[in-house]
Amino acid sequence: MDRRQFLKNSAIAGAMVAIPGASTFASSTDAQIDIFVDEPQGVISPNIYGQFTEHIGGVIYDGVWVGPESKIPNQYGIRTELIDKLRRIHVPVIRWPGGCFADSYDWMDGIGPAAKRPTRTNFWEVDPDAARLHEQGKQIFETNAFGTNEFMRFCQLTGAQPYLAVNLRSLPPLSFDRWVEYCNSPAGSTTLADMRAAAGFPQPFGARYWGVGNESWGCGGNFTPEEYASEFRRYTSWIPHYGVDLQLIGSGPNNDDVDWTHRAFQELFTGHVYDNPSFTGWSVHYYASNLSRGKTTDWIKGKGDALAFEAVDWYELMRQCNRIDQIIQDQWSVMGEYDTKHRIKLVVDEYGPWYREGTELDPTHIFGQQVTIRDALATALTLDTFNRNAEKVCMAANAQLVNNLNALFLAHQEHFIVTPNYFVFEMYASHQGGQNLRTLFSAPEVSYVRDGNQAQFWGLNGSASRKDKVVTLTVVNPDLARPMETQIALHGATITRAAGTVLANSDMHAHNTFDQPNAVKPASLPVSVSGGLTAVRFPAASVNKLEISLA
Ligand code: AHR
Repeated sequence: MDRRQFLKNSAIAGAMVAIPGASTFASSTDAQIDIFVDEPQGVISPNIYGQFTEHIGGVIYDGVWVGPESKIPNQYGIRTELIDKLRRIHVPVIRWPGGCFADSYDWMDGIGPAAKRPTRTNFWEVDPDAARLHEQGKQIFETNAFGTNEFMRFCQLTGAQPYLAVNLRSLPPLSFDRWVEYCNSPAGSTTLADMRAAAGFPQPFGARYWGVGNESWGCGGNFTPEEYASEFRRYTSWIPHYGVDLQLIGSGPNNDDVDWTHRAFQELFTGHVYDNPSFTGWSVHYYASNLSRGKTTDWIKGKGDALAFEAVDWYELMRQCNRIDQIIQDQWSVMGEYDTKHRIKLVVDEYGPWYREGTELDPTHIFGQQVTIRDALATALTLDTFNRNAEKVCMAANAQLVNNLNALFLAHQEHFIVTPNYFVFEMYASHQGGQNLRTLFSAPEVSYVRDGNQAQFWGLNGSASRKDKVVTLTVVNPDLARPMETQIALHGATITRAAGTVLANSDMHAHNTFDQPNAVKPASLPVSVSGGLTAVRFPAASVNKLEISLA
């Protein structure tokens, strides 16, 4: 019997429960976590903790870029507060310039003296969410004030690696070659290297990560998988390397579209096999957007509200976000049918909850939405899933960094705050580069009423990783009402001490605003260590982190 099932069937609270291979529960314990320190399951790539930035609404302009002349503190035009906060969470990689924007973007428009750069119509001008801007007389134009140089500066200042999304729909492969040349050709070697030097960057940027098209099944060209695979061959078979270990990422499925991956991989790996060692990533986009509880598949009607929601919507979001685990398993298994050695890993470069419009902080923030403690739990359980699948997922990018969907920051003019999501990334940063450890979570399931029927969701889940003599354990308790008295046992090591941090709030709608920027923030979590076991009370509706020192 599965251990979760076992616990579900047992009246666990207050009972003594013996689980084979694990420690015995203390009588007052609700749940148990068993960490197997000598069973590492792959290294957690730091790049799982990446962020996504696109030229849409308020992400770049108002979010990242305020301009060098602004009174808002900035470095080379980039918000200083944002830089400082991103350094603090060790942001490993930033994806740019889109998103759908990428497939209508000409990188040549965004280099050279700022005053001479052309103004273009932004891709998002046609989106229904942008209609309000037209109504208000605010057209959507792209000034190109923020281009490759500014993005690279942003990466350098934050310590992140750049991950560039290449235009496959509306520019030829030669433009991709030239972008690589602009970024990576050695100082003094090419005309583009000279142009880069003239902008203040004599040394190459050394850009490794290149996404070849974005959502090529949709906004990126509406290709069939076979057509996309054929374009992918054409765009990637002869890229200048300049000594950089390029990593090429193909445009993978929407959600769990296994047909897309099957057919694209079949085209690439059977018959005339495409054997390019630089092809190492396959993207997945998964937004938890349908909160209708199965009542509709309509993209617009299925969306919930970022702030106006009930308990059932809380759990529905958890269920939707939790689907990412199955998506990873399904995609991995299809990829393995063709790429039998699994050279190509998954890159979940867009994910997060997506609500209907209405909670954006400024009308210009297309897809801007508020971020509550609910989203923090959803983000945490997603990151835990990536950690547990460390051998399959090599990179991810949260959509998006600021003023958009699952943001870590909300900014408008001089105002700047962190959302609850920021604290999740701060708490989880110590997983970066750690050895993922096999960990069992045994807890009674949450029960709640879903359209008149009892529904269940897991009671505790998370991930654990080890670096030297420290184990980081992160745990989500999704239960809105019930704290979880939990015993933690380490197998294969002795605990000396443990320190805890918790992000929780008794109001499920809690969020930060410009007026109340600290409504949601982390606190320390009491942890007791005795006889080699750790005991913790995980509060209701919480994200938790324990740093456990080993002897
Ligand atoms: O993140 C917003 C948009 O969602 C991106 O531009 C696109 O790739 C996806 O559909």
